[in-house]
Amino acid sequence: MDIELRGITKRFGSVVANDGIDLDIRAGEVLGLLGENGAGKSTLMNVLSGLYSPDEGEIRIDGKPVAFGGPGDAIAAGIGMVHQHFMLVPVFTVAENVILGIEPTQRLDYLDLNTARRQVREIGDTYGLEVDPDALIEDLPVGIQQRVEIIKVLFRSADVLILDEPTAVLTPQEVEEFFVIVRSLRDAGKAIVFITHKLDEILEIADRISVLRAGRITGHGDPKQVNEQQLAEMMVGRPVSFDVDKAPFAPGQVLLEIRGLTVYRESGDLIVDDVSLDVRSGEIVGVAGVQGNGQSQLVEAVTGLRRPDGGTIIFDGRDITRASVRDRHAMGMAHIPEDRQRTGIIGDFTIAENMALNNYYEDRFAAGPAIRWPAVFEQSARNAVDFDVRTPSVHAKAFQLSGGNQQKLVVARELSRDTKVLVAAQPTRGLDVGSVEYIHGRIVHARDEGDGVLIVSSELDEILALSDRIVVMFKGRIVAEFDASKGPVDRNAVGLAMAGRSQEVAA
Ligand SMILES: Nc1ncnc2c1ncn2[C@@H]1O[C@H](COP(=O)(O)OP(=O)(O)OP(=O)(O)O)[C@@H](O)[C@H]1O
Ligand SMILES: [Mg+2]
Repeated sequence: MDIELRGITKRFGSVVANDGIDLDIRAGEVLGLLGENGAGKSTLMNVLSGLYSPDEGEIRIDGKPVAFGGPGDAIAAGIGMVHQHFMLVPVFTVAENVILGIEPTQRLDYLDLNTARRQVREIGDTYGLEVDPDALIEDLPVGIQQRVEIIKVLFRSADVLILDEPTAVLTPQEVEEFFVIVRSLRDAGKAIVFITHKLDEILEIADRISVLRAGRITGHGDPKQVNEQQLAEMMVGRPVSFDVDKAPFAPGQVLLEIRGLTVYRESGDLIVDDVSLDVRSGEIVGVAGVQGNGQSQLVEAVTGLRRPDGGTIIFDGRDITRASVRDRHAMGMAHIPEDRQRTGIIGDFTIAENMALNNYYEDRFAAGPAIRWPAVFEQSARNAVDFDVRTPSVHAKAFQLSGGNQQKLVVARELSRDTKVLVAAQPTRGLDVGSVEYIHGRIVHARDEGDGVLIVSSELDEILALSDRIVVMFKGRIVAEFDASKGPVDRNAVGLAMAGRSQEVAA
């Protein structure tokens, strides 16, 4: 099935998200779609998947114009989309989510979950996407939730698969497995649109590349001809540096002291197992590891989102093991959470309100029980400019921002304050190369100013680029430590430790 988009224009108020876009999507091909945060990628794909109707322009399937009244029409036409942010129901099981909207029924409309379960297993087996059909979504790590989203589209036998940043939450290992699936789908004649900010991925998997900037197509690339540097420049309109500049390593006193930290999951499994770790002033400690090895729970315990079951956390000389989140903020702890939509922002609040979430009660913003709105607006306007949060107004709702700009909003709120310790989980997830460059610069700046920084990232390259010291978590424990202050650390050695083979690198 071939698709032609012709002259697609989509506006949101004064924002022209898509401005006369022409694009061809062909059967048996992977089309890589690149573009900076807010360029209009998700909007264009939401138009193609029937979620939005375009203000102008036409969609043609195999030469025939179509009009979609909603996602149901697009699905019926064979177009399925895996969205950038999960659209799963947390309290439902995997099977229930997969069949949501197209439930197979037995006689008399009784929901036939057994059939659904079996089909979920079959799809899992066929494409290497194993998940337990009976697991509750809320109990699954993000990487597995992503698989469920993909199964959901495959379950609807789509001929065109739109994948909006599917790899943003996957581990390198999972990305490779995922590419195997993508290739087999392509070889089976499906058309695939693949959106990512990772240039190496797009060069590996795409057959053609199209680049969007500010709502328009700014160029096309042949993956065999272009390199990452050229793609980056096509995206952001200027050269981008992939290296991080840091001042010489000069650590000060210990700011964060984690001792014997232990956390059990709700299920009773031990997930953080006796972790001890120091973070000093002027130091970036990177926690490497395959997602799901306790890093998330470590961060939650340190930032106060979760009570540890054992151990202590000392912050700047004070025991904060049981301190509230607000106390930790007030003491100078900044937190960039791994899941921006769950714990980073409130989508229905405006950008200004989101920027003030952890300081609205301070004297400069509060007059008794009332909020000094002019001060709040002034703060957010400044932060939005400083951190390049692309929005026509700070009075827009956070959910109206593109995914990467939501991330920049969180980073802006956390890094614009005077802090002592920054705890950052996946700080650049979903950001374009230009924004990654900028955020890395800000994190290093915080460290150079004397902050202690604890970074958790499943991007090994990010850990290697930023860290002064690297620890590797595996099955809840710290299994290896590398000094990165004197020169680059061996990527392979860290990779081995991440796979639980630390004895081989201990030497
Ligand atoms: N529902 C909406 N209401 C108002 N504005 C919106 C809405 N959805 C998107 N926009 C705006 O349209 C523009 C394009 O956003 P879009 O989400 O398509 O970008 P994107 O290329 O997918 O970016 P990212 O890489 O950050 O995901 C942005 O300026 C965004 O703020
Ligand atoms: Mg997007």
